[in-house]
Amino acid sequence: MSTAIAPKRPEIKTALPGPKGRAIVEADAKFVTPSYPRPSFKLVADRAKGVWVTDVDGNVFLDCNAGVAVCSTGHCHPEVVQAIQDQAAELIHMCGTDYYYRQMPELAQKLDEIVPVRRPTRTHFANSGTEAVETALKLAMHATGREKFIAFFGSFHGRTLGSLSLTSSRAAQRMGFKRQVLDVVHVPYPNVYRNPFSAEDCGNGGAGQGALNWIENRLFKTTTPPEEVAAIVVEPVQGEGGYLPAPDGFLQGLRRICDEHGIMLIVDEVQSGMGRTGKMFALEHYGVQADIVCIAKGIASGLPLGACVARADLMNWKPGAHASTFGGNPVACASALKTIELLERELIANSAEVGGYLKRGLEKLMSKHDCIGDVRGPGMMIGVEFVKDQTTRTPDPDLRDRVEVASFERGLILLGCGPNTIRWSPPLILTKENADVALEIFDEAIAASK
Ligand SMILES: Cc1ncc(COP(=O)(O)O)c(C=O)c1O
Repeated sequence: MSTAIAPKRPEIKTALPGPKGRAIVEADAKFVTPSYPRPSFKLVADRAKGVWVTDVDGNVFLDCNAGVAVCSTGHCHPEVVQAIQDQAAELIHMCGTDYYYRQMPELAQKLDEIVPVRRPTRTHFANSGTEAVETALKLAMHATGREKFIAFFGSFHGRTLGSLSLTSSRAAQRMGFKRQVLDVVHVPYPNVYRNPFSAEDCGNGGAGQGALNWIENRLFKTTTPPEEVAAIVVEPVQGEGGYLPAPDGFLQGLRRICDEHGIMLIVDEVQSGMGRTGKMFALEHYGVQADIVCIAKGIASGLPLGACVARADLMNWKPGAHASTFGGNPVACASALKTIELLERELIANSAEVGGYLKRGLEKLMSKHDCIGDVRGPGMMIGVEFVKDQTTRTPDPDLRDRVEVASFERGLILLGCGPNTIRWSPPLILTKENADVALEIFDEAIAASK
């Protein structure tokens, strides 16, 4: 007789949301801004541990989104909780812009060791991804004396006015705000599944070469002389735009272009960084170093922290040029130091291994369901694109939305990105057993949604 213990599964006991959840959603609708881009399913979280989230009505979900790619070490990892509690008991805030405390240089030194930027580096601390990007933009302008930027369609870099000038993944992000604050020109992102460039643009180098040629042969020769460009800003795996990994050669090509023209290469690793792709930073897959890297989301396991890490010779701005009251507060820094320790100890390796296992499982589902057009991405940053059928590749955003909801109803938390893709960004502690459960539910959700 087998003594194997059945794998833990989600437990859905009420309608979703249940009565307590509904009351919170109603209060939220009354008092909280309606500008948050919430999906059509409603998760009202109460507590969470590891990969499991319990809602206020006692329903238990398997989380394959990690609070939008943030809870890298899983929810409330005991060592992270301990580090936060210890730090909170000693020093919560002091304002690093005016005073000193050891956690700030400790974390900056650790980042200097691990970030794909030529050493030595310096770090500016902020509270979010968009703030890390704002820092990068200001720094590039300050360091080059130039003010034009090149960004990519489908990109997401944040919603404050500077980063919003780059962001271009949905019209809703721009509606009502009229003009761009910064002088940004957008180039199609080299989407390998849906190559936006002509054969003439690509030569024999594919979508990546198409994008490079677009910049050099069109932009530089018309609207955007290279000597006026402060920076090219790029996500190595486009996140909100649809979980699209950059093709080989593309980032290397951007590096070459930047070097030739004194342009800063700003790499936004806010979503792709901190072990998410099976390496500490996605750039490491390409062997490229940036001039400036933006980090947030997974760096502190859920506490608000953003970091802009740059070549030290660029960060020669004067006191007062850029600072933030809360940025890099001691508790967030302590949480980040513990998070990085856990990533290095085991979780980056787990992200690569279990991420690969999960991806193979999703590829099997692609051979079973004609409505999955593409499965892509490294580590635990996997996109599953929904189409009418694999031959025409016609996008099917409605089906994607239905699958997202059907998964949720079965206790699996997944979130869409891009027009018709579901992202898999689980906590990096996900096990193969968890992955099997998630794949089984996803399979059922697809079958029920067609
Ligand atoms: C690549 C990237 N950059 C920047 C941001 C903005 O981060 P935040 O929401 O913390 O401002 C995000 C958020 O999704 C992101 O994915």
